Amino acid sequence: MTLQGKHIVLGISGSIAAYKAASLARLLIKSGAEVQIVMTPSGKEFITPVTLSALTGKPVVSEFFTANDGTWHSHVDLGQWADLMLIAPATASSLGKMANGVADNMLITTYMSMKAPVMIAPAMDLDMFAHPSTHRNLDLLRSYGNIIIEPAAGELASHLIGKGRMEEPENILKVVKEFFAEKQTLAGKKILITAGPTHEKIDPVRFIGNYSSGKMGFALAEECASRGAEVILVVGPVSLKTAHPNIKRIDVESAEEMYQASVEEFPTTDAAILCAAVADYRPAEQYNEKVKREKGDLSLTLVPNKDIAASLGKMKKEGQLLVGFALETNNEEANAIKKIEKKNLDYIVLNSLNDSGAGFQYDTNKVSIINKNGVRKDFELKSKKDVASDIINETLIK
Ligand code: C5P
Repeated sequence: MTLQGKHIVLGISGSIAAYKAASLARLLIKSGAEVQIVMTPSGKEFITPVTLSALTGKPVVSEFFTANDGTWHSHVDLGQWADLMLIAPATASSLGKMANGVADNMLITTYMSMKAPVMIAPAMDLDMFAHPSTHRNLDLLRSYGNIIIEPAAGELASHLIGKGRMEEPENILKVVKEFFAEKQTLAGKKILITAGPTHEKIDPVRFIGNYSSGKMGFALAEECASRGAEVILVVGPVSLKTAHPNIKRIDVESAEEMYQASVEEFPTTDAAILCAAVADYRPAEQYNEKVKREKGDLSLTLVPNKDIAASLGKMKKEGQLLVGFALETNNEEANAIKKIEKKNLDYIVLNSLNDSGAGFQYDTNKVSIINKNGVRKDFELKSKKDVASDIINETLIK
């Protein structure tokens, strides 16, 4: 199993075991992960940020602000970026702060803003490890859903022998790999996703488009890929980037190009999620020269584009799943249900422009998922990453 495409925040606190964090970072990177180090001030006493940033290729984050220019380091962004936070070594002091919300350094604020699962590998002397406060803190951290990588028994830095030694980097790597392997719920599946708007050309400088940013489709693509699926992302003009190696991206401009690419790719896939805001019409004529301003009105004749969802619905074979989206301004549910039938979908994801924070351009979305029997499930307003996870759990994993 590789960690290709995985984003890991590696938190290092001030223990002698911090030297092992360098090997751990190296092993994670060699397995394909991208690693961002966050250190406590005392972590830096044990291993230099220079060593770590040279290994990871990223500046180490440690202070709330960069001293020379006052740039603020956003722990919130790291919380969104990561697929996993791994705190190794975690000292007794850091365990106590994490358990009790004492957010006085960058590692703890990052921990408290973390959206991804957290693994903690404690390291301390045997008496500190045996202290009831350490056990109480570890129990609290477990109750928050954190995964504790128990320290090993053996000779400690103090030359005493007992439990408290941070687990060896090779074994921590194994735990990380097993954790991601369990999450590979879409391994072996191939999924087509359409995303973004389409641009329907009027002349060399103008087009008809819409406000779709592509964010929802990209979140779906990233989530499917991180669960092990091979993703074909057919995407209209957007400014977003894809990073995951399991995503094959096909950039298109018009609805016709999106149709051609989708129809070609669909037969070899297990499912298609049609998230794109496809233009329903295009200008009947495309001008080769820029249309000049004239006196009086200018009329454009529009002709309908092909409906990609309906076309894939006709092509759909036994075992293939089709998930559509509906963005409605009125009679949402009735219109969405009609679309399920008309396009032969298995599910439709309904998002409404009536909900604040949901829809085009936002980083959050609020959806309802309706199946072909008309059964509806409503979800809360969430980040598009979490909405993507709900959509996948509700439609592809069943
Ligand atoms: O009919 P309406 O455009 O509201 O349907 C929305 C659903 O159909 C979305 O899943 C969208 O991606 C898809 N669609 C399509 N091709 C079109 C129009 C919509 O695939 N030409």
